[in-house]
Amino acid sequence: MERLQKIIAESGYCSRRKAEELIKNGKVILNGKIITELGTKANYSDDILVDGKKIEKEEKEYYIFNKPRGVITSTSDEKGRKVVTDFFDSNKRLYPVGRLDYDTTGLIIVTNDGELSNLIMHPKNEIEKLYIAKVDGIIKGTEINALKNGVILDGVKCIPKRVKLKKFDKKSNSSIVEITITEGKNHEVKRLFESVGFKVDKLKRERIAFLTLGNLKSGEYRKLNIKEVKQLFSLIK
Ligand code: URA
Repeated sequence: MERLQKIIAESGYCSRRKAEELIKNGKVILNGKIITELGTKANYSDDILVDGKKIEKEEKEYYIFNKPRGVITSTSDEKGRKVVTDFFDSNKRLYPVGRLDYDTTGLIIVTNDGELSNLIMHPKNEIEKLYIAKVDGIIKGTEINALKNGVILDGVKCIPKRVKLKKFDKKSNSSIVEITITEGKNHEVKRLFESVGFKVDKLKRERIAFLTLGNLKSGEYRKLNIKEVKQLFSLIK
């Protein structure tokens, strides 16, 4: 048994909050009876009507997407800018899991499964996210070590899982650093580098847990197979 608003939201009809509103407004009928109580529980096998429409379990879809620069990690944008879901051809209520900045490129999971979304985002699961950062300036061992030792962000110590200087180029005065984090604070990678005095010029996410971009080009997506989805769910701690 699940809460009615959860079943309605999981069916893809609307968000959980909207479902609560619909229940309170008497728009939901469970097995022939109008329900206005928010705590009411039900099963998918029950007869649930919302505004006269029958609620059925929505099939889950899971994708990885190679986000281009200049795309918002969202399902809509009031300024009319391109959003991640514009690239998808699906009748499901897909949304991106977590966030990449407007100018960050690379791997993002897109799904209609709230459970998977929570799993990936919850810090307790320590899901690794690997980024390649091009920073302005020549970063030295002392600064790499300072990052490895952890930096205070939002009042708490944030320790990257791994930090590796890949190369530096004196001519263009830039360095390439591979950094792996398991949390997902806002602008975390950029703020980590800022804290040791470096500005990130380019940022690309190359891996989430065991998922890599492979040969996905910018703007392309692919469906995850059952094995990959199961493997993701096995990462819950
Ligand atoms: N860290 C950032 O600073 N930006 C991103 O887009 C992702 C992680």
